[in-house]
Amino acid sequence: MCRVMPAERVYAAWEGDRAVGGLGAFPLRLTVPGGRVPAAGVTVAGVLPTHRRRGVLRAMMRALLDACHQQGEPVAYLWATEDTIYGRFGFGLASFTAEIDLPRERSAFHAPFPAFGRVDLVSSVSAEEHLAPLYERVAAATPGMFARSSVWWQTRILADPEWRRGSGGDLQCAVLESGGRPAAYALYRMNWAFERGLQTGSVAVVEALGASPAATAAIWRYLLDIDWMARVKAGLLPLDHPLLLLLAEPRRLGFSLRDGVWVRLLDIEAALTARSYQAQGSVVIAVTDEFCPWNGGCWRVGPDGVERTDDAPELSCDISALGSVYLGGFTWGQLQRALRVQELSPGATAQADAIFEP
Ligand SMILES: CC(C)(COP(=O)(O)OP(=O)(O)OC[C@H]1O[C@@H](n2cnc3c(N)ncnc32)[C@H](O)[C@@H]1OP(=O)(O)O)[C@@H](O)C(=O)NCCC(=O)NCCS
Repeated sequence: MCRVMPAERVYAAWEGDRAVGGLGAFPLRLTVPGGRVPAAGVTVAGVLPTHRRRGVLRAMMRALLDACHQQGEPVAYLWATEDTIYGRFGFGLASFTAEIDLPRERSAFHAPFPAFGRVDLVSSVSAEEHLAPLYERVAAATPGMFARSSVWWQTRILADPEWRRGSGGDLQCAVLESGGRPAAYALYRMNWAFERGLQTGSVAVVEALGASPAATAAIWRYLLDIDWMARVKAGLLPLDHPLLLLLAEPRRLGFSLRDGVWVRLLDIEAALTARSYQAQGSVVIAVTDEFCPWNGGCWRVGPDGVERTDDAPELSCDISALGSVYLGGFTWGQLQRALRVQELSPGATAQADAIFEP
């Protein structure tokens, strides 16, 4: 872990000489609309069952977010195991994510799909050189994804220890080449199973990315066509995943939603300046932030800059709402309809959405 998370980014709560809780942050570069921003990838939150509900997590979160702020990391973000914990610390739900569980015999595309590229299986030892440049192209253009170092590839993605396999087999890596270079790849595991001679196993897709629509469709066609598998399962998919419109029977995907990325702005000016905006003009937002009170006040936001202002606010919200709109996963209109934003000046919500359009 210390190869991807420096020791100084790990927090522990001690009782005598015994650690009773821990929290940490990966130093990452998160893609936002129009750029990248240094971000703390908050992780390994845990407190011993014997020491829960005494404020241990709160104290560790205090130390971690204060340190991020002091060292100029304007954003923290995480994937939550439980969705009820992090709102109180100012994290806002910034995206939904989807899982699929598709019977393979119902996986036909809606239209004939001409062969595209050529797929090869590569060993995980040599996979990084094929996968990393392609991932970087997609990640740099996709808000919510982050830049991976070589150490991250080796320890977090391509390492294949027994405990990661669950009921699946070895990590497989398929690379689709087109025009002499990788255009898509898939990391997946196969879970072989038969009952009375009939296949019941599944392909578990760990990650499948393409550099173009045709390459993405082709790598998914490859995954959907693996013989002896009854189902194809995948998670962490974006809500606009192309499979929804590629398939003849999208309802067979069993496309189910859950909360995805949670984002916490630690320095409003630096965080909002790091992303791009579309429309001309600006909007004045009154922000309350109980856990990081230095963010509180009125902010004018627009393509010409982000600054504190004494002007009358047009929208009012908690800091978690800014986290929700930051990556473009939710709109101000959606937040207003869910009573998470108050419109103080008629038309301000629509104006904010025009400005924040990713
Ligand atoms: C979740 C966990 C880290 C919380 O640690 P903790 O020290 O008990 O939390 P705290 O006492 O500091 O509580 C902080 C706040 O979170 C709330 N909270 C704590 N655990 C919660 C849970 N599981 N669900 C909802 N709220 C929770 C507390 O009620 C408290 O709220 P308040 O400040 O509004 O009063 C701990 O229970 C744990 O290790 N759980 C198992 C592992 C886990 O779920 N990790 C989180 C992965 S996302």
